[in-house]
Amino acid sequence: MHLTLLSGPNLDLLGEREPEVYGTDTLDDHVQRAAAVAGSFGWTLDHVQANDEGALVSAVHDARGRADAIVVNAGALTHTSWSLHDALAAYGGIVVELHLSNPAAREPFRHTSVVAPVAHGLVAGMGGLGYELAVEAAVRLARGAPRPGSGTARNGEEER
Ligand code: DQA
Repeated sequence: MHLTLLSGPNLDLLGEREPEVYGTDTLDDHVQRAAAVAGSFGWTLDHVQANDEGALVSAVHDARGRADAIVVNAGALTHTSWSLHDALAAYGGIVVELHLSNPAAREPFRHTSVVAPVAHGLVAGMGGLGYELAVEAAVRLARGAPRPGSGTARNGEEER
């Protein structure tokens, strides 16, 4: 089983960029922890960071038929990119939206997510821990783990 982790614009600057909002860990730190969680479930993980909208759309296309789940922190494209929305709508696997900060508690332009309508769920406001939580959530959703109140259990695969 395989997971694709997508990082949008400016996330390559994590560690230097607004550390009071996004913390001091680098993107590589987050990716390493995300890969460790995926590995603990026996999953592999690849990571794509792009500052271009089109490159992110292409990365979603590449994940089709190859990745069982996508965890996506689209950065500011979260709030604007209908092409990313459409690519994710066509993807077919599990999609978990991820943010280090809690956009709902920030400026009004961050309150709308065009990723949210095509995501199974959202992890936000948990800082770096969010990468680990989002990967675990994606894996468990892909396995069909029951979600409280959802009645969506699909199979009896064993938990980690
Ligand atoms: C972010 C939140 C977005 O609003 C912002 O544009 C980012 C980072 C986050 O991880 O908190 O670039 O996605």
